[in-house]
Amino acid sequence: MLTPVISEIDAYLASVLNARELPEILRGAISYATLYGGKRLRPALVLLACEAVGGDRADALPPAAAIELIHNFSLVHDDLPSMDDDALRRGRPTLHVQAGEAMATLAGDAMVSIAFELIAEASLDADVRSRIVRELASATTAMITGQVHDTVGGFPDGLSDEQRLGAIHRNKTGALLRAACRMGAICGHADEKVLGRLDRYGEAIGVMFQIVDDLLDVTQSTEHLGKAAGKDLSAGKLTWPGVMGIERSKDDVRALQAEARDALAPLGDAAEPLRRLGDHLAVRTR
Ligand code: IPE
Ligand code: IPE
Ligand code: MG
Ligand code: MG
Ligand code: MG
Repeated sequence: MLTPVISEIDAYLASVLNARELPEILRGAISYATLYGGKRLRPALVLLACEAVGGDRADALPPAAAIELIHNFSLVHDDLPSMDDDALRRGRPTLHVQAGEAMATLAGDAMVSIAFELIAEASLDADVRSRIVRELASATTAMITGQVHDTVGGFPDGLSDEQRLGAIHRNKTGALLRAACRMGAICGHADEKVLGRLDRYGEAIGVMFQIVDDLLDVTQSTEHLGKAAGKDLSAGKLTWPGVMGIERSKDDVRALQAEARDALAPLGDAAEPLRRLGDHLAVRTR
């Protein structure tokens, strides 16, 4: 359902990566991890949120590309042997398998700095630009915090498994999806009230997205997903189906889908693409 947006993002990402002055080995590694496959959900949210508030989609392209780079950095590092130790991503060998751990680590690092360069170079109002930098930076820190909780621990004292799970999912995945919606709305000069609506939508679909990811890990095949299935349990991960059970997880997905629709209600027809995207994310199979 995102086909036109995907082609737009892909073309833009390819052009910015090709135009940068980088050692070819680094450009190749970043391109390998970024330009092939991927649902492009986060950049799509930036563009659609911008349009939902009456903004110009062209303004949202650099922030959209930036958040996709941050997301791809998170995947490259998530797959490293010291993290989830995965060999398959988007149906191909992971970057560290393809190019070695040092290259994967460095390419991930560079994807972060290039993401912020893209925003700094964008022709946006100075105020919009600085708000977008702040959104993306704090969501990146939150994503890393979520990855720390997912991988190493370090939770505040006294949290139940349910509370730990909520903290992991809100941070490791929810933060970037919510930031994508906020960044799009900020690009479109949304007022505080409308921004609040997109924030609520982003928060709901953000957690929902990771619950569905956890469900797909136990219900789909590696071949269908293009990444290793069935690993969360053996790796001892705290997952929604693991803690809450499969049926409760499905109920929670439906409740978050309804919450996302409710958040968009006052925005009318302009938010229809976001509404449809939220509905699709609740039932996706990959
Ligand atoms: C995978 O994200 C990592 C999670 C946050 C669950 P996506 O499912 O959006 O990955 P791509 O970009 O489509 O490969
Ligand atoms: C990843 O969560 C979230 C990130 C910040 C990358 P997972 O570890 O469940 O993502 P997959 O299943 O490897 O895509
Ligand atoms: Mg992980
Ligand atoms: Mg993983
Ligand atoms: Mg997963």
